[in-house]
Amino acid sequence: MSPSVKYFFDPNTFTLTYVVWDAVSKDAVVIDPVLDFSPIKGRTDTVSAQQVVDFAKQNGLTVHYSMETHAHADHLSAGPWLREQLGAKVAIGARITEVQETFKAILDLDHLATDGSQFDRLLAPDEVVRAGTLEIRAIPTPGHTPACMSFLIGDAVFTGDALFVEDFGTGRCDFPKGDSGCLYTSVHERLYKLPEATRVFVGHDYQPGGREVRAETTIGTSKEQNVQLTEATPREAFVSTRNARDSKLDPPRLLWPAIQVNANGGLLPPASNNGIRFFKTPMNLRRPTTDSGAPLPQ
Ligand SMILES: [Fe+2]
Repeated sequence: MSPSVKYFFDPNTFTLTYVVWDAVSKDAVVIDPVLDFSPIKGRTDTVSAQQVVDFAKQNGLTVHYSMETHAHADHLSAGPWLREQLGAKVAIGARITEVQETFKAILDLDHLATDGSQFDRLLAPDEVVRAGTLEIRAIPTPGHTPACMSFLIGDAVFTGDALFVEDFGTGRCDFPKGDSGCLYTSVHERLYKLPEATRVFVGHDYQPGGREVRAETTIGTSKEQNVQLTEATPREAFVSTRNARDSKLDPPRLLWPAIQVNANGGLLPPASNNGIRFFKTPMNLRRPTTDSGAPLPQ
């Protein structure tokens, strides 16, 4: 089957959110919904997610799940808000527990359970989720994070941050437990084994060269033209260029708030004793300092 797909682009984080539905039954899922967040104002909002809710209602869709391709490091998830608005359950790869353990330790987060219980459904490798008449296969595509899943729905695959449009490449692999060799296997041995006509919908579009937003490519085009990983690219070549590029990238602007929310099933941190919620930001993580902020000799 060939599901209907509508994308929503968030220009603040270059994130693509998808509504995917069966045009006959109107059964639907949302993939990677965005909760707006201004770190300057310390304020969240649901303007972007409201567009998704409005679209679903206007088209008479039954949204069964919010499917998270992974715990995003660049935007906050609106999964819990969509659960409130539409009754959509939040699903993510079962290896989210590894992400939870990693960041609970780094951020010393007492409140963060590490058993995935904040999510409604944890997906095993190649598990098939039924959402009314839609069947969604969760293809494990780790590398960007260990919990990354791509979602195959009929002739369309939603690749999150594993595979981008061919003029941008692939997702970074330098987050904790990221692994460029793993990403090579995910793309080369799993995604590139799908039929060439498979429609590919990506998790971000960074509009290289200032071009128009592109959400979509195909497996065939990616295999031939992806600037970082074609079918002919050897593993060692990909790993060394991916690692070299990652070593020059800044962390995402919303890294610490995003991971604190998204590893917690999209829920904000609990309020502190004074009734206010806070995000933590680790300081000098890779380069310890004295109390006065001077780097310690290494
Ligand atoms: Fe990501």
